[in-house]
Amino acid sequence: MTRKRVAILISGRGSNMSALIEATRAPDYPAEIVGVLSNRAAAPGLATAASHGIATASLAQSKFPTRDMFEDVMTQTLESWDVDIVCLAGFMRILGADFVNNWAGRMINIHPSLLPLYKGLHTHERALADGATTHGCTVHFVTPGLDEGAAILQAEVPVLPSDTPDTLADRVLGQEHRIYPQALRLLASGQITSLV
Ligand code: GRF
Repeated sequence: MTRKRVAILISGRGSNMSALIEATRAPDYPAEIVGVLSNRAAAPGLATAASHGIATASLAQSKFPTRDMFEDVMTQTLESWDVDIVCLAGFMRILGADFVNNWAGRMINIHPSLLPLYKGLHTHERALADGATTHGCTVHFVTPGLDEGAAILQAEVPVLPSDTPDTLADRVLGQEHRIYPQALRLLASGQITSLV
């Protein structure tokens, strides 16, 4: 079995990244994590990745005159790792259309809502404010429109009357860690493809 080479893009703690790294330890998992790139040098996930012997890179967009130049260097970094698939995992930058289109069908994201509900930020607060009784998370292909690409997997959780944004986020996060590795398995094994 040839394992697909995967890079993960993060900005912060990297718990979804850790779930993906853990999943790839299974001998039959069709992908390996070959690099982790952060747009924040202080992202705790970078140290976690390094502790697993995974190559890391940190690139601050503010150090580049334009977003295109920042994304060109990201592409060069990913190419230097010979990456097949990119997983966004809490990467808090909106990516330009050229970068996204270059990875069409090969880049996926985890989003903490049942898309198409609650695209963007503060999903848990918004679900609570709406009085939603269910909430959840989605792994989807990345397309130029924010959180708009086709869904690969979703998981639902109940919203409890006692929930705060933090307790709801924790419940959703548990499901994120379950479905992200499953979705990457589907893509890396060729069981699912994007038509865009
Ligand atoms: C997760 O809730 C993910 O759904 C969202 O950003 C958060 C990242 O958390 N896109 P972590 O860095 O994976 O712990």
